[in-house]
Amino acid sequence: MTDTEYDGGSKRWANIDGQSQAAARYLEMMNRVLEEQKRQTMEWLNLAPGMSVLEVGCGLGLDAEAMAPQVAPAGRVVGIDASHDLIGKARERTAGRGLPLEFAVGDAHALGFPDNSFGAARIDRVLQHLRDPEQAVREMARVVRPGGRIVVLEPDWESVCLGGVDREIARAVVRYKSDVSLAHGMIGREVRRVLVEAGCVDVLAEHGSVTFADLALAERVMSLRRSLDGAVSGGWVAPAAADAWWHRLEELDRTGRFFSAMCGVMAVGTVPPKR
Ligand SMILES: C[S@@+](CC[C@H](N)C(=O)[O-])C[C@H]1O[C@@H](n2cnc3c(N)ncnc32)[C@H](O)[C@@H]1O
Repeated sequence: MTDTEYDGGSKRWANIDGQSQAAARYLEMMNRVLEEQKRQTMEWLNLAPGMSVLEVGCGLGLDAEAMAPQVAPAGRVVGIDASHDLIGKARERTAGRGLPLEFAVGDAHALGFPDNSFGAARIDRVLQHLRDPEQAVREMARVVRPGGRIVVLEPDWESVCLGGVDREIARAVVRYKSDVSLAHGMIGREVRRVLVEAGCVDVLAEHGSVTFADLALAERVMSLRRSLDGAVSGGWVAPAAADAWWHRLEELDRTGRFFSAMCGVMAVGTVPPKR
């Protein structure tokens, strides 16, 4: 599988071991695409030297690595992920850099840490893939000390818009991506509620967008072709209409008229005193 074929669907992300090269290239690319959103969410964590921070679903550990200098030398950033391969890559990538980083295989639904182990926790594009996102955020609230912050960054795939193409087919493509390919494709709009229901206070949620003026990048990020093929397999779109729709996207791209965008939500909440 190549990175452009990596579709980011939840079944794959639930266990990407064995495909981790393609997954790693996808994560590196997304790290550049979401640079600004990631910076904002890290700022919300109020990092300071000496803090211990948990990154849930850390993937390659790129965000954990970015945060580590801010808590060094006495603090630490711990990254957990379900993938043995990605945790191995995170360890290899960061070995010998002198950063206070630890990586472990773990499940976001049942964090292997005692209550109140961390000063803050962050999760980035993981809830969309989980069986039970509410449980994962409750776990984050359990392991973060009162007064500590929990930060979430998640997409909302139903927000994907595409200009200049047949809208019914575009809706079918978005529906496939959001409702079939992903376990919780619309989690972005739910994260404020989920943080409040996990007991967090002072919850702030902001909506932001990423725009694409070329098909190649849009395709790498959103795997439109795979969702179009899924819509055909589901009987929602006729094969000939799907091909014509795709050719139209290519033509828009060739002539500098391609436009697409999608939204995500960044949210922060504070863990209140616990009984
Ligand atoms: C889209 S990637 C995001 C990775 C990373 N947060 C980033 O921003 O680069 C989703 C990650 O969630 C991990 N994941 C999926 N299910 C998980 C689970 N139950 N517990 C922990 N991590 C999980 C995957 O292995 C993958 O690394």
